[in-house]
Amino acid sequence: MTRLIGIAALLGAIFASGAHAQNTTLDEIARYRAQLQDGNPAELWEARGEDLWKQKRGPKQVSLEQCDLGKGRGVVKGAYAELPRYFSDADKVMDLESRLLHCMVTLQGFSRADATKRVFGSGSSRSDYEALAAWITSESRGVVMKVSLNHQKMQEAYELGEKAFYFRGGPHDFSCATCHSEDNKRIRLQDLPNLTQKKGAQLGYTTWPAYRVSQGELRTFQWRINDCFRQQRFPDLVFGSELSIALTAFLAYNANGAAFNAPAIKR
Ligand code: HEC
Repeated sequence: MTRLIGIAALLGAIFASGAHAQNTTLDEIARYRAQLQDGNPAELWEARGEDLWKQKRGPKQVSLEQCDLGKGRGVVKGAYAELPRYFSDADKVMDLESRLLHCMVTLQGFSRADATKRVFGSGSSRSDYEALAAWITSESRGVVMKVSLNHQKMQEAYELGEKAFYFRGGPHDFSCATCHSEDNKRIRLQDLPNLTQKKGAQLGYTTWPAYRVSQGELRTFQWRINDCFRQQRFPDLVFGSELSIALTAFLAYNANGAAFNAPAIKR
């Protein structure tokens, strides 16, 4: 009997210390994150993006202030909280990056090849998309996500995105859901949100773009999905492709109701 009590006490102590270690780790992560929020280098990308938006550029020497992000030409405030959306001038559903590409080609006169030369930055070669996305999304900070499926093509994009999210394939037979359908998962210092639940989708969507401390770069939502394609051992996701827009539409719509809160800062 005393031996049993002894074992119970020992197990209790082990579990208690396990729980304690877990709490300490969580406290440390919370502290690390709070420190990171103090100064977010994303502001440098935001400033460059605002400048890029206003500069006359491309063969036609016009600025992106003529670009309609869905709320009228040049209207940036709150635009990201309603993207992706259907654009009648292109007869397509577009997310922010594909809309910017569209405007660079149709307004500024860039060729598609030139406009997609550098979609993600590395080292000293920065990407215009990351800067533009940083500024444009910052103009939706605090705005409640309100993506609409009213248009038939938006409905179709959402359904394609949902299908892609649950589609299993590749050498490991992974789908997005394989890694993103459990609560309280964490890899290294980054929470792995359950994207199949409203709360997780809201958290996972409204905190991108983000400045990645580990990379010293500001990353967009297209980059995020692209990087997960890599983790899934899928072929590279084509920038601005129908599939990338569909996955974004699926996750953005599921984030509806939450206040947008990016550019954020992540490990
Ligand atoms: C093999 C596991 C794996 C698969 C499969 C996977 N992801 Fe991820 N995902 C991760 C990891 C790990 C992170 C966090 C990465 C980090 O912090 O570097 C992440 C992060 C994310 C985030 C950002 C979450 C946040 O709060 O910052 C989104 C959104 C996301 N993934 C979407 C997807 C989509 C869409 C797919 C399918 C195309 C997918 N993931 C497939 C492992 C995976």
